[in-house]
Amino acid sequence: MEKRKFSKLEVTLIVLFCLVVVVLCVLIGLLATKDSPSDVEFSPSCPALATAQRVDCIPDQLATKSLCSRRGCCWSPLGDPNVPWCYFSSDHGYRVDGPLVTTQQGLQAPLARLPSPSLFGRDIDNLLLITQHQTPNRLRFKITDPNNQRYEVSHEHVGSFTGPAASNLKYEVQVQHKPFGIKVIRASTGKVVFDTTIGPLVYAEQFLQLSIWLPGANIYGVGEHIHKRYQHDLNWRVWPIFNRGTNPSANVENLYGAHTFFLCLEDESGASLGVFLMNSNAMDIAMQPAPAVTYRVIGGVLDFYVFLGDTPEQVVQEYVQFIGLPALPSYWSLGFQLSRYNYTSLDQVKTVVEQNRALGLPYDVQYIDIDYMEDWKDFTYDKERFRDLPKFRTFLHQQGQKYILILDAAIGIDPMADGSPYLAYERGQGRGVWLNESDGRTPLVGKVWPGLTVFPDFTNPECSDWWLQECKIFYDQVPYDGLWIDMNEATNLLEGSTKGCEDNEYNYPPFTPHVVNRLLYSMTTCMDARQKLGLQYDLHNLYGYSMAIATQRAIQAVFPGKRSFLLSRSTFAGSGKFTGHWLGDNTASWDDLKWAIPGMLEFGLFGIPYIGADICGFFMDTTEELCRRWMQVGAFYPFSRNHNSEECAPQDPAVFGADSLLVNSSKHYLIIRYTLLPYLYSLFYRAHTRGDTVLRPLLHEFYSENATWSVDRQFLWGPGLLISPVLDPGVEVIQAYIPDAVWYDYDSGASIGQRKQWVDLYLPADKMGLHLRGGHIFPAQQPATTTVASRKNPLGLIVALDDKKEAAGELFWDDGESTGTIELQTYIFYDFRVSNNVLEMQVLHHGYTDPNQLRFTQVKVLGVTSGAQKVTVTQKGQEIPSPHIVTYHNQTQVLEITNLELELGEDYRLEWS
Ligand code: GLC
Repeated sequence: MEKRKFSKLEVTLIVLFCLVVVVLCVLIGLLATKDSPSDVEFSPSCPALATAQRVDCIPDQLATKSLCSRRGCCWSPLGDPNVPWCYFSSDHGYRVDGPLVTTQQGLQAPLARLPSPSLFGRDIDNLLLITQHQTPNRLRFKITDPNNQRYEVSHEHVGSFTGPAASNLKYEVQVQHKPFGIKVIRASTGKVVFDTTIGPLVYAEQFLQLSIWLPGANIYGVGEHIHKRYQHDLNWRVWPIFNRGTNPSANVENLYGAHTFFLCLEDESGASLGVFLMNSNAMDIAMQPAPAVTYRVIGGVLDFYVFLGDTPEQVVQEYVQFIGLPALPSYWSLGFQLSRYNYTSLDQVKTVVEQNRALGLPYDVQYIDIDYMEDWKDFTYDKERFRDLPKFRTFLHQQGQKYILILDAAIGIDPMADGSPYLAYERGQGRGVWLNESDGRTPLVGKVWPGLTVFPDFTNPECSDWWLQECKIFYDQVPYDGLWIDMNEATNLLEGSTKGCEDNEYNYPPFTPHVVNRLLYSMTTCMDARQKLGLQYDLHNLYGYSMAIATQRAIQAVFPGKRSFLLSRSTFAGSGKFTGHWLGDNTASWDDLKWAIPGMLEFGLFGIPYIGADICGFFMDTTEELCRRWMQVGAFYPFSRNHNSEECAPQDPAVFGADSLLVNSSKHYLIIRYTLLPYLYSLFYRAHTRGDTVLRPLLHEFYSENATWSVDRQFLWGPGLLISPVLDPGVEVIQAYIPDAVWYDYDSGASIGQRKQWVDLYLPADKMGLHLRGGHIFPAQQPATTTVASRKNPLGLIVALDDKKEAAGELFWDDGESTGTIELQTYIFYDFRVSNNVLEMQVLHHGYTDPNQLRFTQVKVLGVTSGAQKVTVTQKGQEIPSPHIVTYHNQTQVLEITNLELELGEDYRLEWS
């Protein structure tokens, strides 16, 4: 082949081109060195610092000296590999760049970045700090880029604050100018309770960081993870937050929900602090022994809320009121529930239902998992194996039971097996309701149970309408009582999509939090996918939240005026207003049995009190012993459901034999649950109206006893019922902490005489620890096998007297299923009080007449040391005739008053002597 010669012009052009390239390279080089000066230009000041106070400067990879010096940080290797070897100096961060102005709502100040090397590039030089003194106990501070709009969470409940600043603040705010830092001081003690000066503010396009020095090492919350223990391990642990449909395991993993809130108990006084970051981007939350917590977030803005309280419970109330008070559950959803994945036919489900009914076991709800669907497609049912599904609800209702069905997030795109169109998909497709690829037009295709799928974009109102319609259309074919929404992280069995994901800054950000596989789109959609409200990169953690909101809307359309039921796997701050949650796909192991307690306690902090774990374990075959112990404690999960996975041996109580130890013990504790449902329901009323926890950590009630700070193998129902389960195999004696109060054994009613100490509780195979706290009155009702039946039974009170022979309690009672009973005031509210051998039953609100003519027929008083033979009943100051029978049990000091006829809704006074 002949070689072609270049013309003069071509040579000139090539030379010019090369020159341009060289000049560009030099310019880029200059710019790069401006952003990250070499170690020669930047030498940090690194005074001696306690190792516990080091804030990690290389959170993304293995620390090396050269990287440390490129980042301008301090290098000091140690024997302990957990402690950061490379840490920030005070030369990083920002300074207040102008006056600190007092506004109507708080303070405002511009911030300017200190000249220092960048960690991940694209740092933002100028920021704006605003503070808002929103309530006497709640401070907000927000740091934004005043020159460019950044993504911010649009939350269903938290709106913008219009001010003005609250007065009588319980806190003071101090701003440190250089380097910028913010401190919050508890006004009553002058103690600094929140202090960001421990580390720098970092604010780049895709990396934002702030560290908080805390007043105590008792830190709880942050999720969703398996923390194993309730009290955080501060030994340099890093917890990624990014919703993921993974099987919870012992490894540090990001799980289904995103909760950036934590609680810190300062000391024995009970003074506590809550911290919440309103941000839905992926992040790491790092704990260190200072004690300090560092948020490392890859998008959005820093929008922090600090809550101060006199007690941990008060901080939770404040937080929950802020993000949205939890829904009041239907009374029936407090009943026991049975489920499994892989029922092979409706006949099989009916057999399970009948076998378990025959046990006489309290049992309100039956689920059917995705097995009912045709080809695992939402809004379809298998016309052969589940032929009679349309009549299943009636079958359950005949015995007072309820039917819940599952819906998955993803929608199959293929036609039905017989070639007919999959109508739910077709209708959605017609309305353009799916999450799209980065072009914003092409539906992103992934893969879930039905094969190839699209993902509804629940941030799109059109999608929410389509979903509502589908829920309605299906309800008309297959009536159900409530919905369980699943795989809504959203889980995708492919990485990103059928096409994979492009190589860009959203799919591969400069810093990836410690999520599983260090890949954001692992088991979900690509991060550059588009939703109506924006980028998946920003919105991913809100997917389950938006689906719960849309489904709650559908429920209100399907069940007008009824609460029905909603359970969601994926959650976000504020989800409790719409849905309950279960802890996901656990394993039938003793570890999982233990870890469920911290998991549930954490969801109490997150404002989702309707919480439980799959009883007897989801994956793996359970054993009789494990399942028995799990059924015992599970009877006290707010959401109490035995659920099992595909291919695992059945574990519904009946398979263990009608008269088995497991069945008898399960019955015993479920009967206690049903007896105490009025108490549990009243706790949910407090959660719904005030943000109280239902399943309560001991430290919320007994913070002055530091032994309670780490107790998570026991828990309370509200303030009064102490639950101490057996959580280990082959064990009949457990060490339980008995806080400082009078406690009565639930079964015998006798005082245990021990307090403020660890005790050995003897709990043979059929027993768990159950104690009533002196000072409390528990409303109760004669149990039955369903709540439909139990709600017709006589009521009662269990009075547990304290040292002063006093007690108090309350009852919230309505029809148990209508929405808005509180707003409409269609309920009864009782206040109960005992002192000087007198029980006052006072109706504080009377807006409901129960159709069952309910009466209190029994009052049991525990701790009556003086004996009693006679009881008089008075109403409106007059003694009234009463056919009651009085029995005093000398040995146990229990006074039993039976055969009473006290009408629900009336005031009474009972006096014993
Ligand atoms: C998911 C759910 C699980 C359910 C299964 C089948 O793994 O977490 O509870 O049984 O899907 O639908």
